[in-house]
Amino acid sequence: MKTIVKYVRSISILLIILFSACSPDEEREGYLIGFSQAMTTDNWRKEMNRSMRIETSLHPELDLEVLDAAGNIQKQIEDINLLIDKKVDVLIVSPIQSAPITPIIEKAMSEGISTIVIDRKIEGSNYTAYVGANNVEVGGNAAKYILSHASHKKGNIIEIKGLAGSSPAYERSLGFRNVINKQTNLKIIGTVQGDWEKHSVEVGLKKILDSTSNVNYIFTHNDRMAQGALEVARKKGLDDNIIFVGVDGLYGPSGGIQLVKDGILSATILYPTGGSEAIRLAKNLLQNEVVEKNNILKTVVIDSVNVDIMQNQFNKLNQQQTDIEEQQAIIREQITSYNTQNSLIQLMAFLLFLLLILALYSIYLLIRVKRGKRSLEIINKKIVVQRNQIENFAKQLRKTNETKINFFTALSHEFKTPLTLITSSVESLSKAKDQDLDNYKYETRLIMNNSKRLLRLINELLDFRKLETRSFVIKPSRTNIYEFFKSIFHDFKTEAAINSIDMDLKCTNKELELYIDRNMMDKVFFNLLSNALKFTPKNGKISVRIEESSDPKKINIYVKDSGIGIPSGEQERIFDPYFQATNNLKPGSGMGLYLTREFVKLHGGTVSLRSKKGTEFCVSLLEGTEHLKDYIISQDEPLKYEKLETHIDSLYPQAVMKDLPGVLDNELNILLIEDNLDLANLIQRNFHKEYNLHHSDGTDAIEKALDIVPDAIICDLNLPDKSGFEICKELKNDLRTSHIPVIILTALNDEESRIKALRSGADFYITKPFNLEVLKQSVVSVLYNREKLRYYYTNRINEIEDNKLNTSEQEFLKQLNEVIDKNLQDQNFSVEELSNIFNISRVHLYRKVKAMLGLTVNEYINSQRLAKGKYLLEDTNLNVSEIAYSVGYSSPGYFSTSFKNKYGLTPKKFRDSKEPLKDSV
Ligand code: FRU
Repeated sequence: MKTIVKYVRSISILLIILFSACSPDEEREGYLIGFSQAMTTDNWRKEMNRSMRIETSLHPELDLEVLDAAGNIQKQIEDINLLIDKKVDVLIVSPIQSAPITPIIEKAMSEGISTIVIDRKIEGSNYTAYVGANNVEVGGNAAKYILSHASHKKGNIIEIKGLAGSSPAYERSLGFRNVINKQTNLKIIGTVQGDWEKHSVEVGLKKILDSTSNVNYIFTHNDRMAQGALEVARKKGLDDNIIFVGVDGLYGPSGGIQLVKDGILSATILYPTGGSEAIRLAKNLLQNEVVEKNNILKTVVIDSVNVDIMQNQFNKLNQQQTDIEEQQAIIREQITSYNTQNSLIQLMAFLLFLLLILALYSIYLLIRVKRGKRSLEIINKKIVVQRNQIENFAKQLRKTNETKINFFTALSHEFKTPLTLITSSVESLSKAKDQDLDNYKYETRLIMNNSKRLLRLINELLDFRKLETRSFVIKPSRTNIYEFFKSIFHDFKTEAAINSIDMDLKCTNKELELYIDRNMMDKVFFNLLSNALKFTPKNGKISVRIEESSDPKKINIYVKDSGIGIPSGEQERIFDPYFQATNNLKPGSGMGLYLTREFVKLHGGTVSLRSKKGTEFCVSLLEGTEHLKDYIISQDEPLKYEKLETHIDSLYPQAVMKDLPGVLDNELNILLIEDNLDLANLIQRNFHKEYNLHHSDGTDAIEKALDIVPDAIICDLNLPDKSGFEICKELKNDLRTSHIPVIILTALNDEESRIKALRSGADFYITKPFNLEVLKQSVVSVLYNREKLRYYYTNRINEIEDNKLNTSEQEFLKQLNEVIDKNLQDQNFSVEELSNIFNISRVHLYRKVKAMLGLTVNEYINSQRLAKGKYLLEDTNLNVSEIAYSVGYSSPGYFSTSFKNKYGLTPKKFRDSKEPLKDSV
């Protein structure tokens, strides 16, 4: 907006400059001639004005301004004043009367304006120049003409005078009388006082002519009054007798020359207007030329003798003047058109200039817009970057939040198993009547270990919190690092031995001392060793090296295992809080390595790792106390701190599942898939009297299920190898195991896991901490359901084909029936052939059929043969022998015996009696 205002302002300024350049200048370039004309009522005056204009136009430097006083003296004074005020360069005045106009002309003179008096004179000689004919001479010439025409120089004359007070009237009369008065016989018998106009003569002349008709000559001071006199005389019938002589001799239709030519006037004395002469004089004055004060114009008598010549001359002169006027008009027109064109060109130039400015301004705006756009783009880019940063930050925040939630969920789960074990053990202890020592010890150890485990998790949480709030203060004390490490290392040895893991500790300098916070460093090495132990498989190796670094101020402690390693893409994040490597399916808080790194950092040290086959952590610690200036250092304390060794047995559940004596006639097999051996042991102890309990830690779950084909499976979800979901799905999709009910026993109690488990085919879902009685009852329940199904399958075997249940088990039975039915005639159709068709082993087919129907495969085939035989006996006319062969019996006798065994009647009797039979498989 500001720019537009600025722009409009500058355009306006430009316009003003331009138009002021085009408009006429205040300061005149040429000269202004001011002319005060007495009046313009008659042609003589008009001719005077015309000749002035023509003459002026011939001099481009001159400009003429004419003010007409219209015969009013006062107005003429005002006009002259006006011209004085205008500071005309030359003033020309044709006074109406002499006396009243004299002072104003004197004023002009006093103001330094050159003043030319034309035609009529003023009083005195205070003017620059005078232009006009000699009026005394004019009057004298008139008198002389009369004298020359008067016979015997006698006759009566009437003189008609011009306006009294005007110099021509006075002088003409003077000149006339000077001549006439010298003649004795020529007499002026009357004088009429006119005012230069035609009608001014009427009254006076009529009066004279009324008194006498003896008039021979009338001399009028101008031709207009002569005409008036003629008309008066004509009315009296005297016009033919009188000779009229006028003055002016004007050219034109009613001018004096024409009047002479028409015989109306005998003669007229040429009285030139002096218009062009006055302008020329003014021009000379302006050119500072010396001019005559009195510029007397020539006069001549025009009568019948020279009138034609005069007219011709005037014709030519007039023609010339007309030509000049026409040319002037053309020039004026051309000037006008030049000016118009000039203005147009100027306008166009201005418009072009404007266009140029606008174009430049547009370019400028375009550049500004481009720049603006560019800067907007940059801002936009910045905003996009910022937005992306915010998005990333939000994403990270979400991820962190999610990780935190996952962490807390995982941690909560971690609490569940120990809690289950504690509560179950407490429950068991409270119920026990005859506690044998072994049982008592077992339960209390379980409670102790799991309570410690909870304590350790809680301590980790508190350490984490402390780190987050930066409220950890290290209490460094001088420590022999080998001795310190050895004691921690030693605590892991028993545990390693159980798993046949070789542990090895090497130290290049056993005297090395470091300033460490022992409690923190205990946690650091405890974490590293427990991790190593956790991920090292049986018969693996853990080696520890304590070495002085080539950098003399450092000691490196390497902890190396032969475990599964950490995927290369995850090694950088392994120290992040909550992070757990994707190949780590073991339970854990995801906190240990984070705490390890932070504790080492507090000591000014670093932790790094190398992992390919197995993992090697390296803890670098600084020697000396330089880096611990901010802390109080204790020098000679014995090796004493809150050691974590007591927690060790809580880390690893008792690895051995003890075989407990079962009940001999116990036919029911249960497979427990659980990696927490304490929990597995607890369930084993509670189930061994009712069931044959088989155990898998998850690594061999499928193999064991296929091997045992148990009656029910209890399965955890978080397992080290395959998850419980995967195991369940696999079992349920395998014909050999699909019929086995699966109870999920897990710490995950969210809806999603529940649904996922049911989708995987699980039959029951129990969450930790759980009550052992509930678990037991659930097992009873699934087995009972299995029983009910078996009853259903065996008693409604025909309905199965109607797809009423629509389960994979029903589908299996339907197929089984179809295959048997197809091969019913075949006496040699065997279990082998059947198992081949189903692509499972004989044993698995046997176990599946037994589990589902309570029969062996052979028993089932046989029952199908007899059922078909019974049907044929009822609905066909085939004889018993034919029926026996058609259902695959080698002899009718064997068929009859079998039939009777099953239905209580021989086939023959059955057909005859048509009694309903007990229909059991
Ligand atoms: C014109 C006129 C002339 C005359 C002159 C005298 O106005 O009357 O006819 O000669 O003035 O000033």
